[in-house]
Amino acid sequence: MARITASVFTSHVPAIGAAMDMGKTQEAYWAPLFKGYDFSRQWMKDNKPDVIFLVYNDHATAFSLDCIPTFAIGTGAEYQPADEGWGPRPVPKVQGHPELASHIAQSVIQQDFDLTIVNKMDVDHGLTVPLSLMCGEQDPKSGSWPCPVIPFAVNVVQYPVPSGQRCFNIGRAIRKAIESYDEDINVHIWGTGGMSHQLQGARAGLINQDWDNKFLDLLIENPNGLAKMPHIDYVREAGSEGIELVMWLIARGAMSDVDGPAPLPKVAHRFYHVPASNTAVGHLILENQ
Ligand code: DHB
Ligand code: FE
Repeated sequence: MARITASVFTSHVPAIGAAMDMGKTQEAYWAPLFKGYDFSRQWMKDNKPDVIFLVYNDHATAFSLDCIPTFAIGTGAEYQPADEGWGPRPVPKVQGHPELASHIAQSVIQQDFDLTIVNKMDVDHGLTVPLSLMCGEQDPKSGSWPCPVIPFAVNVVQYPVPSGQRCFNIGRAIRKAIESYDEDINVHIWGTGGMSHQLQGARAGLINQDWDNKFLDLLIENPNGLAKMPHIDYVREAGSEGIELVMWLIARGAMSDVDGPAPLPKVAHRFYHVPASNTAVGHLILENQ
């Protein structure tokens, strides 16, 4: 039986990818940020998953206003890094896991969640920057990411966006789906995006450190309560792009304690840093007990 052993949460700022791609990680501005991921890169080596189920949002790259899936699961064999205007990032293509992805699609749809099935798409910074942060620099030609990745794209760009509660519940369904896969593999589930940031309008530049840290506390200790927070509170408190944080509830909803009986997950690592580009960066690694 497949099992979820850990969840990883991290912001996905595009400038972090650019800093890595241009060799600027040791510059004064960036060094403290990357130091927060030293532990995580070693942890990835010590706790290598067989598959990563990676919850992220597409930024009008693979999907435009022509087609807006609320939840889209990648069932393809591979995904190319997207060209977001400066050419594709120099990172390896992403290998998918069509068998497990198809199984999850079947199970989650039969649990009454509507998923869009995507066999072909490019993946933008929302997916590649978390991989770079957690796995370090990779040679784009000879290198590869440590394991296959199942992309799970959530619409947090074009309203209406899904509620935190729906994201949490779909995470619970994803856990059931993974645990009913008949192969003995170790899966990590990642929730990405956030934390507080606003890229546009009168409040551009907004960062709310108190709120972000409270969010991290609640995500660890009281995810059921956190799931009830309405989407407007994310926007008001964490800025228009802070709504990306609802995706973290998908990964948290997939942890063992949620439908018990299991203790709260172990906090293997917690990191918070302000700012990176326009964004507050938050990062957690939670291990199932
Ligand atoms: C920034 C952050 C994001 O989440 C994003 O998708 C694009 C830009 C930023 O901080 O610059
Ligand atoms: Fe974003």
